[in-house]
Amino acid sequence: MDPVIAPSILAANFAHLAADVQSAQQAGADWIHVDVMDGHFVPNISIGVPIVKALRGVTDLPLDVHLMITNPDAYVEAFAKAGADHLTIHIEAASDPSHTLDRIRGLGCKAGIALNPGTPADSLADALPHSDLVIVMTVEPGFGGQAYMTDAAQKIPEIRQMPGGADVHISVDGGINAQTGQHSLRAGANVLVAGSAIFRSPAGIEAAIKQLKGLTTHDS
Ligand code: DX5
Ligand code: ZN
Repeated sequence: MDPVIAPSILAANFAHLAADVQSAQQAGADWIHVDVMDGHFVPNISIGVPIVKALRGVTDLPLDVHLMITNPDAYVEAFAKAGADHLTIHIEAASDPSHTLDRIRGLGCKAGIALNPGTPADSLADALPHSDLVIVMTVEPGFGGQAYMTDAAQKIPEIRQMPGGADVHISVDGGINAQTGQHSLRAGANVLVAGSAIFRSPAGIEAAIKQLKGLTTHDS
């Protein structure tokens, strides 16, 4: 199977966001990854509900919304109404992750759980059966353009073995390029989130997406 490619718009040109998203779509992107940061859970502020709503008007690809925010339960409804298709919360940020994941599903979205590089895989045990998607962070969340942490990807095979882990999408997020993407896919991920390697590629958006798309997943 081809990997699922989810370009992260954090590295796009925000003054020409629609054009960048449409280039990514035409090049074969599968999902559009949207990083929401609150300046509290992570030391950076990015974008919020109005941008998700605006993106909904310019692409029909699934909007893969990554909530790097404290108290995500208070915001999932607003993001769902704005047009998010996937809503991923952080295990470190949620007071009752399973409850919020069930709410996300009830809002008609796919529910995702993310974990930081230092968070052990077994912290997902309760949440995994309530999840459709796991984001394994391979950088500390908050900024694009950081280097891939190989050790963080070692959690992927462990997650695959856990109850509920075999059938979820496993995304890797942070420092993904052709080389680190292949490493992650070998470990058992099936979704590659990439910002810099796509939107800042010297070869251009289309060539970068095609290169990632050409990598092979573990079960191919
Ligand atoms: C980091 C974000 C990532 C980021 C990835 O906190 O969750 O999605 O945009 O950027 P690159 O691919 O540049 O590491
Ligand atoms: Zn992300």
